[in-house]
Amino acid sequence: MKPEHLLKIIFEYTTRITNERNLDTVLTLMADMGRDMIDADRCTVWLIDRVHEELWTRVAHEVGELRIPLDAGLVGHSISTGESVFINDAYTNEQYKEVLSTGALRTDLLTGYTTKALIVIPFRSNDGKIMGCFQAVNKNSNDGAFTKQDLEYLTLAASYSGKCLESALLSHEIEETQKEIIFTMGEIGESRSKETGNHVKRVAEYSSVIARGLGLSFHDSEILRMASPMHDIGKVAIPDDILNNPGKLTEEEYEIMKTHAEIGYNLLRKSSRPILQAAAIVAYQHHEKWDGTGYPRGLQGEQIHIYGRITAIADVFDALGSHRIYKEAWPLEDILKYIESERGKHFDPRVVDVFMDQLPAILQIRSSYSDVNLR
Ligand code: C2E
Ligand code: SIN
Ligand code: SIN
Ligand code: SIN
Ligand code: FE
Ligand code: FE
Repeated sequence: MKPEHLLKIIFEYTTRITNERNLDTVLTLMADMGRDMIDADRCTVWLIDRVHEELWTRVAHEVGELRIPLDAGLVGHSISTGESVFINDAYTNEQYKEVLSTGALRTDLLTGYTTKALIVIPFRSNDGKIMGCFQAVNKNSNDGAFTKQDLEYLTLAASYSGKCLESALLSHEIEETQKEIIFTMGEIGESRSKETGNHVKRVAEYSSVIARGLGLSFHDSEILRMASPMHDIGKVAIPDDILNNPGKLTEEEYEIMKTHAEIGYNLLRKSSRPILQAAAIVAYQHHEKWDGTGYPRGLQGEQIHIYGRITAIADVFDALGSHRIYKEAWPLEDILKYIESERGKHFDPRVVDVFMDQLPAILQIRSSYSDVNLR
């Protein structure tokens, strides 16, 4: 391969990888970069899952993950010794006979593929811990053999990958953790007011279905799905005797109850994370009404963020259909009549229309996260 062609490949892939935060995409791009750099038939980036003692890799979007035991084959050997392996004679090699029979040759038997040449190179994180390895199989040339230069090139790709994957894994980890914190916080808020965790899940799903129906992007609807469950987080600060009062609230008690919107906003607004920013908006605005008669600020129409308008209908639909300490669940028919009657009053008329359009999906969510089934 000409040096300028190699440089072009490296430049193109590293540019894309640097701008990419999604772990699966980073893995796929790295494997493709390795494959193109040395003109291999196949290239795979394996990562260590120490919890399950497995190696895993992303295959294709439809197929998902491929997992093998941590000690399988040449890949496992390379990971445990920390050494690169380079062979061009998989079926006659004496040195790695054992490990090849548990790895590549066994896989060949199952898939009908013929492995001839193999390069395996472990890569490390910044602090030197082995994170996984690159595996390249069969050169696309007449004799299918790799050269020492291929080994050097792939080593270059591997050393870059360790650093890059470390940050992609970290942001993946942070996002997964965040999702969990958000759900847990939502459940704390709801459990104190004797509402179920399922209320949290239903409101999340209703909100994202409505968001998609309104034409919001997948990204924005995902953000809302994670943020909307926190709408009532401010209820953690409402005294028990009000929160769990089985009767009708006095005017004074209701005024205290209404502070949950602003309290929730103040709990969440300091974060710069997009999900938590969205959650702050939702907490602040989920009791605002389209006609301006809501609280805490009496916002009107499109002054209310679309996230607030969507969560409002999701929350009320769910509250009316649920048993509360102060009220019985309403029949579905009455709920739908009520929502229709509040079109343009409590609720954004466009949001009501999408809600009605999406009713089959909404009812599907309602029954799969039903409270009754869990008791
Ligand atoms: P929540 O129970 O989650 O209710 C959320 C929203 O659903 C209510 O907001 C209201 O817009 C709607 N909603 C719920 N039940 C009914 C109902 O029977 N009729 C009608 N028309 N709408 C209903 P809202 O009113 O701002 O209340 C906020 C929160 O204040 C409620 O959350 C609940 O925790 C509490 N709350 C409201 N009224 C009472 C009450 O009479 N007794 C007690 N103990 N708590 C109440
Ligand atoms: C890991 O790196 O811990 C495994 C990640 C996964 O299971 O997707
Ligand atoms: C190996 O490289 O020998 C193990 C991976 C595989 O099964 O192909
Ligand atoms: C996952 O949810 O994909 C596993 C978490 C991790 O990769 O650390
Ligand atoms: Fe609320
Ligand atoms: Fe709620």
